[in-house]
Amino acid sequence: TIPVRNVQALAASAPGELTAEALNQYIRPDMDHDSVLPEDSAEVPVVDLSRLLSNESVKEEASKLKFACEEWGFVQVVNHGVPEDIIVNIKRDIQEFFQLPLDVKNAYAQRPGDLQGYGQAYVVSNHQKLDWADMFAIMTQPPEARDMKYWPTQPGTFRKSIQEYSSEVGKLAHSIVKFIGNTLNIDPGLWTDKYAVQALRMNYYPPCNSMAEKVLGFSPHSDASLLTILLQINSVDGLQIRRHGAWIPVKSRADALLVNVGDFLEIMSNGRYKSIEHRVIINPRRERLSVSAFHIPKFDGVVSPIVSTDADEKVLYKTLTVEEYVKHQLSNKLDGKKALDHAK
Ligand code: SIN
Ligand code: FE2
Repeated sequence: TIPVRNVQALAASAPGELTAEALNQYIRPDMDHDSVLPEDSAEVPVVDLSRLLSNESVKEEASKLKFACEEWGFVQVVNHGVPEDIIVNIKRDIQEFFQLPLDVKNAYAQRPGDLQGYGQAYVVSNHQKLDWADMFAIMTQPPEARDMKYWPTQPGTFRKSIQEYSSEVGKLAHSIVKFIGNTLNIDPGLWTDKYAVQALRMNYYPPCNSMAEKVLGFSPHSDASLLTILLQINSVDGLQIRRHGAWIPVKSRADALLVNVGDFLEIMSNGRYKSIEHRVIINPRRERLSVSAFHIPKFDGVVSPIVSTDADEKVLYKTLTVEEYVKHQLSNKLDGKKALDHAK
């Protein structure tokens, strides 16, 4: 990692007056050419977890889940079971954390070579384009994977909120992974619960009043996870997903968690479920905050394609070690789905 400027501080330094020069490393010359669909053109499919958990409705709801995984790679999960107060608490504490003075946040700064901490990720050269965002990543599950020096003590309730949110979202991930396994027509013996490690990444996207339409908060990428669960923290949208060559703005639904297929699920499903490219755009006037929970298979294990029982299927991906893949993805600049070439 190459240290770069804190974006929140940069955005606050001269509101409305940042020059093109100061912004040069953030400006994407090609953004005007991208095809972006209108906001209300399509809605990410919705799946109701309570209907998956009930015998009467499981079949119908599982077919919606299968459709969402096959056709979208994204699904909004409602009645997800994560208690409302736990969501309120994590939202409040993440917002308060990013409002702390820079030197307080920098006590948790990402150290060279480390995957965790506060700062900017995917910076590997002085010449690449930079994302208009700061982030804070920590390992949260299993408990023995935690490195408490990165767990903030401010605000005072933060550690508790992280712990509770992590645990509830982890339970949700176990349950969705199980239901996804059931939709895959594979030998169930080959699909034991694959989620083992969880990391949280809190995202802070400052407004950019002068050039919001020319910068990106998160470069196009797909996730080095099995399953990612996203919670949008305030009401500012910005996530776009790539579908049939165009970008589709995702309208966040207050009662849903947004779940997406990651690269490991694409590999394990032998490409039947695709991990979809996504990116984040910036609002000219309002900050945006979100938290992604990445659920990853056992770090020291391997993933390999599991072919379906009902077809003569060609194996499309290599077997690869989880740790190697995650490190590969994190140590390169983001470039759409390029990291997945590693598995081909
Ligand atoms: C991510 O891709 O992990 C972040 C998405 C978001 O902030 O909406
Ligand atoms: Fe992502």
